[in-house]
Amino acid sequence: MMSPHDGGAPPPGLALNQEQALASLRALATPLERYVQLARLHGEDYRLFYRLLIDHLEELMPVVYTPTVGDACLAWSRLPARPRGLYVSRRDRGRIAEVLRGWPRRDVGFIVVTDGGRILGLGDLGANGMGIPVGKLALYTACGGVAPQACLPVMLDVGTDNEALRGEPGYLGVPESRLKGEGWDALLEEFVAAVEAVFPQAVLQFEDFNNACAFALLERYRGRLCCFNDDIQGTGAMGVAGLLAAGRITGRKLGEQRLLFAGAGEAGLGIGATVLAAMREEGLSEAQARERCLFMDSRGAVVSGRQDLVAHKRPFARPRAPIGELAAAVEIFRPTALIGASAQAGLFGERVLSAMSQVNERPVVFALSNPTSKSECTAEQAYRWTGGRALFASGSPFAPVEVNARTLVPAQGNNAWIFPGVGLGLALSGARRVTDQMFLAAAQALAAQLRADEIAQGRLFPPAARLRPVAAAVAAAVAAVAYEQAHATRPRPRDLYAAALAGMYEPKVAA
Ligand code: NAI
Repeated sequence: MMSPHDGGAPPPGLALNQEQALASLRALATPLERYVQLARLHGEDYRLFYRLLIDHLEELMPVVYTPTVGDACLAWSRLPARPRGLYVSRRDRGRIAEVLRGWPRRDVGFIVVTDGGRILGLGDLGANGMGIPVGKLALYTACGGVAPQACLPVMLDVGTDNEALRGEPGYLGVPESRLKGEGWDALLEEFVAAVEAVFPQAVLQFEDFNNACAFALLERYRGRLCCFNDDIQGTGAMGVAGLLAAGRITGRKLGEQRLLFAGAGEAGLGIGATVLAAMREEGLSEAQARERCLFMDSRGAVVSGRQDLVAHKRPFARPRAPIGELAAAVEIFRPTALIGASAQAGLFGERVLSAMSQVNERPVVFALSNPTSKSECTAEQAYRWTGGRALFASGSPFAPVEVNARTLVPAQGNNAWIFPGVGLGLALSGARRVTDQMFLAAAQALAAQLRADEIAQGRLFPPAARLRPVAAAVAAAVAAVAYEQAHATRPRPRDLYAAALAGMYEPKVAA
């Protein structure tokens, strides 16, 4: 099998140049058609694909990534063209290393793997989840400047409990219910051991596993190889960066903010854990930091008296009276920031948001759930129900909104601001472990990247068009921690930022 990234000249006779490729994409009627067209382009001329993506990130990131990747995953088996990746199935038990050796490249540096258990906020999509590792790795290259041949997207096909999907003609995965318990653990163990044996230099990124698996996986493997969970740790860093940026606008330090989390899963608790670390660094005690955070899940506030809390939620439970409703929690807890990671569209209704605007001059509102159909509120709602005062960010992009003759530009709060830079920093330093301190440093570096004019506009994250230099700054911060913590294996460059930028992949295409 030939790799699409096998080096050498672009395929002969390919008619498109950049301008033509962009024009033909723009002529298509729907984002999903553009996704398919880009998948074809990637297969035919990957350099042109990446050139387009890098030069038009603002326009094309929503196509290769959220929200369109969500539509692509839902329709995966019916798509007329799909991006490539490696499917490793439960039927490969006992020979997973051999399957990995079948990939045509040995120089893989980054593997993003999912088992399709929780694809965006869309639930269990089984083998259709392949779109997520593919999309993440496209951003590793486009934003983090990682060479495409170093990237390997893996779908670990453990089956699916999505019966409708299993019954679809042409479903690409194993049409059986999801492997669980010891069988799942053993498959994961064999996969991880195979990665260590076949691609010992690779960073392994766990992505879109359901939360029952995700926390356990991270604990099991983080001390053994260079791996991280993007939904927990990457989102944690992104969320803290957004809160630090909000603090630059409101003049409040993180330790002076009160944070209400709507969602106590991977994303909510990931942000929560990173917030606690950042508050401790500001000088708060553990107890003071914990007092400033309240988590809500589908059953109300996460309080110590609850008997139904799973292990990963228990450390975040507060000794306080139960609160059932989010609006009541806003009224009682009086948060400065409301962080949505619940995958519940419309959760931030008028009562919730106007309560936020009553207790804050500039209420911070993050509707982080993806894709757009799962966002806790729209940008328009966030601004309308707070009198245009919200400092708003969303997981998937929203267009600017006119409020009282002012144009408000919502920022995208997505872990795409973090993981490409983290990956680049790990590669730069040759780090053999990924630590929480690296994510905290990534968050601080990202927040520091906001320019004064962006702060003045109320932006919490830089625009997508600046993702490359921002990723280099994140990479430098991550690499610096790798050197400080003695996890680095490569000689330290004098200027980490310059080295990160200089090493970035730049596809060359015909004019
Ligand atoms: P998860 O399944 O681990 O957690 C969801 C949480 O929401 C659970 O604690 C659940 O109990 C809670 N919840 C459900 N209904 C609720 C309600 N009515 N009120 C309060 N809480 C409620 O899922 P995970 O991984 O945390 O992802 C959640 C969402 O965040 C997804 O839509 C995902 O796409 C998005 N996300 C966004 C990221 C970004 O970069 N913007 C990164 C990672 C996840």
